[in-house]
Amino acid sequence: MDIPGYGHVDGEWDLREGISDYLGHVPLRGKRVLEVGTANGFICFNMEREGAQVVAYDLSEEQDWDAVPYERHDAAAFLSERRNHIRRLNNAFWLCHRAFGSKSKMVYGDVYSVPEDIGLVDVCTFGSILLHLRDPFLAMQKALRLTKETVIVTDLHADHPETVSDAAATPASRNGTPFRSLAKRVARVTPGIRDVLVERDLLRQQRDDVLRSQLDGIRFLPDWRTSHPRETWWHLSPGIINQFLGVLGFERTEVTYHTQKHSGGTQRLFTVVGHRTAGPLA
Ligand SMILES: C[S@@+](CC[C@H](N)C(=O)[O-])C[C@H]1O[C@@H](n2cnc3c(N)ncnc32)[C@H](O)[C@@H]1O
Repeated sequence: MDIPGYGHVDGEWDLREGISDYLGHVPLRGKRVLEVGTANGFICFNMEREGAQVVAYDLSEEQDWDAVPYERHDAAAFLSERRNHIRRLNNAFWLCHRAFGSKSKMVYGDVYSVPEDIGLVDVCTFGSILLHLRDPFLAMQKALRLTKETVIVTDLHADHPETVSDAAATPASRNGTPFRSLAKRVARVTPGIRDVLVERDLLRQQRDDVLRSQLDGIRFLPDWRTSHPRETWWHLSPGIINQFLGVLGFERTEVTYHTQKHSGGTQRLFTVVGHRTAGPLA
């Protein structure tokens, strides 16, 4: 991040070039925005520069991160290390708040108890936070009950969609070739070949199911054998975010994919933008 009066400060993520992709290119001028999980405020101050009025929301250092409660691990030591981390993030937020001359408001609290007295907002953002929460659906429900128009969800994406749909399309696209129909006729009269083809079709079916579940699924990451990860719960797909959002009244969604700089390399992410179409605020 480039901080006025301090210059460039390196961090784990460098979102400077990709911030518009990260936020799904949603116009923010004149919008009241609730940013859930602001951390050092990089996104908050960017949205403010775009003309938004931002209410930033995050844990205070007296509150606990949703750590994975491995029975074989010392949860208390981990939580105290996390509180230290949160304290440093909050200090960074206030340093930047001063340096940028920000007018954004900061509210401390747990994501499961977003207070109603924040008031209604036009836009709500969840940038790389849902994967860290034991109950991402409840977190969204609590913040979105205050959100009139648009929600922006950005999260890590492991599987590139084009790869998945290309692979999933392959068996169907081969079905119509002359070679395929000849093979089918031969197979009908040759039991050995028929068995091989049946088995191959089954394997393809299973592969396509796995690929589809990666598009729509949710994966539980904690592994009791390694007690890792400690602070991350899920691999969420764009498909599951769409389903959550639909239930919460944001039935029209768009998904985009982007690459951001991370720890000297790059990381694929997806952004889902949801538009409110149902509910008392529609
Ligand atoms: C990985 S950072 C994401 C920062 C920023 N939103 C971004 O997109 O780069 C996750 C943030 O969520 C906050 N957070 C984690 N668990 C939370 C909880 N239960 N309630 C409120 N905030 C939480 C963390 O303190 C941290 O600031």
